[in-house]
Amino acid sequence: MATERTLSIIKPDAVAKNAIGDIYRRFENAGLKIVAAKMLHLSREKAEGFYAEHKERPFFGDLVGFMISGPVMVQVLEGENAIAKNRELMGATNPKEAEAGTIRADFAESIDANAVHGSDSSDSAKREVAYFFDDDEICPRG
Ligand code: TYD
Ligand code: MG
Repeated sequence: MATERTLSIIKPDAVAKNAIGDIYRRFENAGLKIVAAKMLHLSREKAEGFYAEHKERPFFGDLVGFMISGPVMVQVLEGENAIAKNRELMGATNPKEAEAGTIRADFAESIDANAVHGSDSSDSAKREVAYFFDDDEICPRG
């Protein structure tokens, strides 16, 4: 298994619930290292660009509206198998289907306010990390 990086976002609903620390604890307990982080209140343009792959989907407008409704916490996670490991910690997109003990089972209210984002493939991780972070904002931790 290779060391990977993945892009994680704690969405406005989970930031509003003061759950950043709890979610960070889960990443660290799973062996993932936070190698970059920033809190942002996204512009509409930035959120639309991030979710461009979904722009034809019926939920796109609501998704963008939700993502700009409050600040988000954006981080790069590094570790063995980080992309799949983060997706496992997150749980299913729809919290009703998310396994007990996952972030979405514990914090998400609904499919459209579902607490966290995580890159879903190596290609999307590369694109998404670069969408938010310059190389010199990432601190490899070995
Ligand atoms: P998607 O990439 O399918 O899910 P994931 O976040 O698990 O990778 O969808 C992106 C986001 O779009 C999802 O987190 C919440 C929102 N969404 C909806 O609001 N309704 C839907 O039916 C789907 C599939 C997604
Ligand atoms: Mg996705």
